[in-house]
Amino acid sequence: MKTITVKASKTYDIKIGFGILDEADGIINITGSAAVVTDDIVAPLYAQRLEQALSRKNIRVVRYVIPNGEASKSAEQLVSLLNFLAKEKLSRTDTVIALGGGVVGDLAGFAASVYMRGVGFIQIPTTLLAAVDSSVGGKTAINLEAGKNLAGAFYQPDAVLCDISLLSTLKPEVFRDGCAEVIKYGVIADSGLFKSFEKPIKDQLEDIIARCVEIKRGIVAQDEFEKSVRKFLNFGHTIGHAIELLSGYEITHGSAVAAGMAIVTRCAVRMKICDDSCLQSLLKTLKLYNLPVNTVYDAASLAKACLSDKKRDGGKVTMIFPEKIGKCIMKEIKTEELENIIRLGLEEQL
Ligand SMILES: NC(=O)c1ccc[n+]([C@@H]2O[C@H](COP(=O)([O-])OP(=O)(O)OC[C@H]3O[C@@H](n4cnc5c(N)ncnc54)[C@H](O)[C@@H]3O)[C@@H](O)[C@H]2O)c1
Ligand SMILES: [Zn+2]
Repeated sequence: MKTITVKASKTYDIKIGFGILDEADGIINITGSAAVVTDDIVAPLYAQRLEQALSRKNIRVVRYVIPNGEASKSAEQLVSLLNFLAKEKLSRTDTVIALGGGVVGDLAGFAASVYMRGVGFIQIPTTLLAAVDSSVGGKTAINLEAGKNLAGAFYQPDAVLCDISLLSTLKPEVFRDGCAEVIKYGVIADSGLFKSFEKPIKDQLEDIIARCVEIKRGIVAQDEFEKSVRKFLNFGHTIGHAIELLSGYEITHGSAVAAGMAIVTRCAVRMKICDDSCLQSLLKTLKLYNLPVNTVYDAASLAKACLSDKKRDGGKVTMIFPEKIGKCIMKEIKTEELENIIRLGLEEQL
């Protein structure tokens, strides 16, 4: 088992290993009651194992199951979860445990941050995406009609338990979505990590997850509230969120981010920020993992959708462009220039 310590407004450990769900009682340091929030696919697979482990510690466990999928990151679902916590009489010293992917983690984390102005919160990621990204760093959110993650809070967990063996039941397309975020870490921070994707990510999960988490830990420690370097983690996301929104969330987060990364990197070549070999390496890697490198949406629709994304700042949008694999830069784009910039990234599709 690997332990990675995050030092942000809260200091907490991320434990990564095989089969550690059944040791949750020894790893998670809580007392009282716990609400396990999970979805209808993960619940039958893993909830009982977690609850059994916790019951060895005499913890009262209640379970809240949401329908799987992005639609559950909604205001309605948040309110109904909060009502459930109140009905079950969870107190300020009790704990919400997110057992699931990024949807469960984002919703449960937001609920934990506002229920009684903040209760204990533990993340048990069950997707690759949640393991390397959403379970670490304390961003929680729900979607509003106007766009993704428009309401949320920075709320660090008290612990993260990442049992790699849980990833074995993921559908290939869900695993692939996580690969998009893993590839993102290679592009923004580590060319050696990026090179390792030539061999299947599946065969090197423990090392790759730990490396991604270390990168995110380093960034979050410097800039927990996304004023500066944390923005690098949004590589591919401004356009990715626009693609998700335009598709009515039919296109999943990881796939949208993959297309977003390819599009901004094409822009970067045309803007002479990086050379073509950087783009070709990214495209080759995304294709190796069957991830999309383009979108059907046009520049005008994408720009409009980007502007409803929260990453805009007055008249500007901060976008992340690669200079080379392992190093990105941040550029502020005026909102009126956004459509033309995006068009540069779509040209090959015309
Ligand atoms: N908070 C953050 O920092 C952050 C970072 C990245 C992404 N996100 C958010 O994360 C969400 C995407 O997360 P995701 O890709 O994990 O999606 P998800 O939570 O919807 O999970 C994808 C699917 O996999 C199923 N599943 C989960 N674990 C499983 C398992 N072990 N075996 C079989 N099936 C399993 C789920 O039921 C679901 O159908 C998006 O809403 C995105 O905005 C948040
Ligand atoms: Zn993401």
